[in-house]
Amino acid sequence: MDYVYGPGRNHLFVPGPVNIPEQVLRAMNRNNEDYRSPAVPALTKTLLEDVQKIFKTSSGTPFLIPTTGTGAWESALTNTLSPGDRIVSFLIGQFSLLWIDQQQRLNFNVDVVESEWGQGANLEILASKIAADKEHTIKAICIVHNETATGVTNNLATVRKILDHYQHPALFLVDGVSSICALDFRMDEWGIDVALTGSQKALSLPTGMGIVCASPKALEASKTAKSVRVFFDWNDYLKFYKLGTYWPYTPSIQLLYGLKAALDLIFEEGLDNVIARHARLGQATRLAVEAWGLKNCTQKEEWYSDTVTAVVVPSYIDSSEIVRRAWKRYNLSLGLGLNKVAGKVFRIGHLGHLNELQLLGCLAGVEMVLKDVGYPVKLGSGVAAASAYLQNSTPFIPSRI
Ligand SMILES: Cc1ncc(COP(=O)(O)O)c(C=O)c1O
Repeated sequence: MDYVYGPGRNHLFVPGPVNIPEQVLRAMNRNNEDYRSPAVPALTKTLLEDVQKIFKTSSGTPFLIPTTGTGAWESALTNTLSPGDRIVSFLIGQFSLLWIDQQQRLNFNVDVVESEWGQGANLEILASKIAADKEHTIKAICIVHNETATGVTNNLATVRKILDHYQHPALFLVDGVSSICALDFRMDEWGIDVALTGSQKALSLPTGMGIVCASPKALEASKTAKSVRVFFDWNDYLKFYKLGTYWPYTPSIQLLYGLKAALDLIFEEGLDNVIARHARLGQATRLAVEAWGLKNCTQKEEWYSDTVTAVVVPSYIDSSEIVRRAWKRYNLSLGLGLNKVAGKVFRIGHLGHLNELQLLGCLAGVEMVLKDVGYPVKLGSGVAAASAYLQNSTPFIPSRI
């Protein structure tokens, strides 16, 4: 039996798509509208201004593209680079692997810097490559800020420092799919040229909108980049931006109103409070994992991710069985281990519109499943460690106190 009806809610703890807040669901529950009426451009203008805030940029130009994270990748690459361009890209898990595959299929010359899964991007190798590249043959650095498959967060400020130190002009392209709106992300301060995310992650929207933000340098590069692009051509958007009508093709009206509601919620809480909330939920999850006597797939504290934790299971347990049983028995959706770590890890997503008690419910569910599959866990041990920490650290909704 593959599907079992269960009363109550599904506990969605995959690292995206994530839960959609009621306010967003209600905002999206509406009819279609004529996107050429004056109302939709007015809404779009506000959205573009608000979106800049979540990237922490004042000079970046945002594009709201009907696509997913994968399309946003393609938009970033094809608008700024030409076939044959040398790019340095870091392979640290399934999503960086998929981006590299796309880079290769788009005919870039990809210089892959590989690390063991569970480690962050090797920035020492980056420094040596940049130092050696006196001729500036490297045209771009591509990095996944938060590798969702292993729960590893890379240090973007260090990438910028390396480029600045050697006064290297390479473009800095960042996948922020499981970081933007949840982790500290500073497009302008870190000199990021293209940053991107997908609506179904920390923004807590349905899937279907890729949000890409281009620096003035990236826009300049797009004028000479020779990669073939049609649907993802920024220029088509820019023409309509100038006209004040904004849309080269039909946007999803429902997603636009959903985005407005999602951003309103984020600004009401305060972006930095949202980021602090993710830090607390991430830490609570890690404390639970420790209390269970299990290991975090992330090998060093400096790479710990506050949006997803990949938990390593003992070799006598198949982590896919944990995910399967969690869903079937407890209506709890956990993330599978992907590719190299399939069967070895399961993932707890703790991003998006989420609070402490929801997370504790998930942790209680994980404990029960662990026991079911024969792992000697003390029921309540992870919940106790996480709740003690949460209760004693500063809460994230000051207005409720
Ligand atoms: C870090 C990262 N990048 C890119 C993607 C691909 O996004 P999508 O599945 O929306 O195309 C994902 C998906 O989970 C992701 O986690």
